[in-house]
Amino acid sequence: MAEQHQHSFTYRRMRVEELSPTDRALVERAITAASRAYAPYSHFHVGAALLLDDGSTVEGNNQENASFPAGICAERTALHYALSERPHARVEVIAVAVPQVKGDAPVSPCGICRQALLEQENRQGSAMRVLLASSTGSVLELARAADLLPLHFDASFLKA
Ligand code: THU
Repeated sequence: MAEQHQHSFTYRRMRVEELSPTDRALVERAITAASRAYAPYSHFHVGAALLLDDGSTVEGNNQENASFPAGICAERTALHYALSERPHARVEVIAVAVPQVKGDAPVSPCGICRQALLEQENRQGSAMRVLLASSTGSVLELARAADLLPLHFDASFLKA
């Protein structure tokens, strides 16, 4: 007999002005990073900013390519840049922003980025809080990257 399961997570929706000064500064850095994106094909400029456990911040943005799949999203640019410099860093918070997009919807990371953020969360063994900002100042906050990807694949399957 089929069993019914439920997977739920909590997120908060707020205005950027309601964030703590640190979180707000991180969103601002993501907005600044978006202004340096290389997105001549999509014209969709995304910025990401990470707060690391030593208090430093790292920014990234999307980098596109005429061979479209060669492009990379803002989240992974920032993440891989940070971890290539500091392989033992813990990412405490990631902020993602799309300052030029119409509408009030916060950016929603793609599936590959969700997978990459989840891997880092597992690697560091602590939660990575996620702040997703819209161009008009709406923000979604999730407590952990894993909340972005239910029923996910991770390294535990490889050990089975
Ligand atoms: N993009 C990101 O950088 N992050 C997201 O969360 C969504 C999508 C980029 C990839 C591509 O350069 C452009 O936005 C359009 O998909």
